[in-house]
Amino acid sequence: MIDKSILELLRCPSCHSHDLALGAGRRPAVVCDACEVHYPIVDGIIDMLPSQRNIQPGQYRTETLFDMIARIYDYVMPPMSLGIWHCSPLRYIDAENKAIGRANGGVYLSAPIGTAVVTDQVLAPYHDVTVLGVDTSWKMLQRAQKRLKDHKHPIQLLRADLTHLPLRNGVATSTQSINGLHTFLDRQQTVSEILRVTHPGGYIAGSALIRGQEAMADSVLDQFEQYGVYPMLRSGRYLVEELRNFGLRHLAFETYGAVLFYSGEAPPRLVERNERTA
Ligand SMILES: C[S@@+](CC[C@H](N)C(=O)[O-])C[C@H]1O[C@@H](n2cnc3c(N)ncnc32)[C@H](O)[C@@H]1O
Ligand SMILES: [Zn+2]
Repeated sequence: MIDKSILELLRCPSCHSHDLALGAGRRPAVVCDACEVHYPIVDGIIDMLPSQRNIQPGQYRTETLFDMIARIYDYVMPPMSLGIWHCSPLRYIDAENKAIGRANGGVYLSAPIGTAVVTDQVLAPYHDVTVLGVDTSWKMLQRAQKRLKDHKHPIQLLRADLTHLPLRNGVATSTQSINGLHTFLDRQQTVSEILRVTHPGGYIAGSALIRGQEAMADSVLDQFEQYGVYPMLRSGRYLVEELRNFGLRHLAFETYGAVLFYSGEAPPRLVERNERTA
């Protein structure tokens, strides 16, 4: 059953209305009263990815790739991080701990949450935090749902695209995007959405794989790109500039091997502007 307090954080990704309710039909769903779209609830996960009839070339690939590797992701990720990206997996835990602490008892948005392998490690002591986890891959989300089921926090997983987050403006007090930015097809739109849904002054952090740091990592990333897995991997400097241009405040960066970690605060000006145009 979806808690009413969770519905109050959501908005319809199709028409942006806040008038969402639990459907009365035989199949559990969240229903938008304004445009009448039904978003199915499957295994407790709300599927807020509107079905797409005309999928653009390449668009499906990331989702399919993560569906394919969901079963092995948790075993492969730490050795890959150590052996290829040359970044200790403990760095992700440190970043997650910091970000969930900055939620200050509010809403912690983990996007993309993947299998929740990182989020799960740090959640227990933050009893007062509401957790929202977003990802496009069903199979990653189903693993996350199983893994998080014993936590007592309000936790809601959403199948959604980060370019059209089904969240109201400014609801998250802290947003974390571990190993996220390099996997998104439209980074500009994704960062705009993260800024829109994060409260003014809220914490925004994440990590991304970058080129130009490690020869082995570069050659693996070249292979990824050659097969169309990830679209636009650039140097750390490029990403830093991109994030600066979004006006994040107190931006900080650290690089470990081929992984760039960033953190900053959502600028009030941008969020207010987005709210007016939403
Ligand atoms: C490398 S995994 C990282 C997952 C998790 N943050 C972690 O560190 O374990 C990248 C995730 O991003 C998700 N993803 C990629 N593009 C997305 C998008 N546009 N919207 C939502 N999720 C996306 C993939 O399905 C995948 O689960
Ligand atoms: Zn709607």
